[in-house]
Amino acid sequence: MYSIEKDGYVHFMLKEIHEQPQVLQDTMSARISAGGAGVVFNEVSLSLEEIKNIKKIHIAACGTAYHAGLAGKNYIERLARIPVEVEIASEFRYRRPILEPGTLVMVISQSGETADTLAALREAKNLGARVIAVTNVMDSTMSREADDVIYTVAGPEIAIASTKAYAAQLMIMVLFALYLAAGRSAIGSEEMQEILSEIKELTTKARRVLMDTGELKKLAGEFAGRGDVFFTGRCLDYAVAMEGTLKLKETTYIHAEAIATGEMRHGPMALIEKNVPIVAVATQENLLETMAGNIQELTNRGASVAIVAMEGFEELEKVAGRVFYIPKTHPFLAPLLAVIPLQFLAYYTAVAKGLDVDQPRNLTKSVSAE
Ligand code: AGP
Repeated sequence: MYSIEKDGYVHFMLKEIHEQPQVLQDTMSARISAGGAGVVFNEVSLSLEEIKNIKKIHIAACGTAYHAGLAGKNYIERLARIPVEVEIASEFRYRRPILEPGTLVMVISQSGETADTLAALREAKNLGARVIAVTNVMDSTMSREADDVIYTVAGPEIAIASTKAYAAQLMIMVLFALYLAAGRSAIGSEEMQEILSEIKELTTKARRVLMDTGELKKLAGEFAGRGDVFFTGRCLDYAVAMEGTLKLKETTYIHAEAIATGEMRHGPMALIEKNVPIVAVATQENLLETMAGNIQELTNRGASVAIVAMEGFEELEKVAGRVFYIPKTHPFLAPLLAVIPLQFLAYYTAVAKGLDVDQPRNLTKSVSAE
């Protein structure tokens, strides 16, 4: 299914970006019940009673997996109405967390070997919590030590910069949120069907996003000469902005920072001046008007703003120089499409800088030592 060769691609990162539609298809098809009416997680041994009795969920992860966890918080809280706390695993493991009875802990890890996340798993188990691992590697340490394991079906991910594993993690987060919501009767069948039918369209829509890279390559050429780039967004878009920031940082060595758009005026706005490059993620219709106003403010201060928005948000063209559109989809699913332009931006900027895209300096694929 997935080879560990480049199969004609110049870099593994480019190949793995392009494998995402198939990864989404493989991850969702194993989870949507035969009749298409609901979501199944047969590998999770939570009884219906246990699902109903979950009081809180803690998600612990590192890097890109942490960003998937941030999106997971949005999904689980909005759909299943369970409070979720998301934490960087290296913080969780040392702060002597308090886990109330009825707490479910989820650790997310592509490799299943990350030392900090493994330590968080062990800490959670010592505290008596039920632990589910979401990982991409069969028989990894985390898959063996967790109470349950959910495998992302992404195939081997060779590039150090994670792309397709992140897509699979997001898909699992959406599906698991739906699974919990159904178990707690927190979602109606109409809304369930609406989201599931949009999920089934995602593979095709992701393929469309993959074909549209011309303008991104131009922007990447401009970024190649930059020292600082800012990303911004709200809610789910902020989680995507954080992932775009990490992709750019780790592949191009350019300093990048994600700022929650609502935080700009609480200090970071002082950094904004003529030509400062900003990538804004604005895919959530309920936040569109607010984001348009915020972006106008940035543009008024001379910033050079590029936006990743959903088709139909053409009014954003009045407030920014460039708008990259993703196909219309359910707001929850927007991150799965919006992240692709950000992955390409990082990839093509690294290529423009002549860097080792697949093996960036100082980094390893799995940080299995502390
Ligand atoms: C992602 O592009 C980075 N390579 C890195 O942040 C990675 O996500 C992090 O080290 C966690 O790895 P894991 O998913 O294997 O635990």
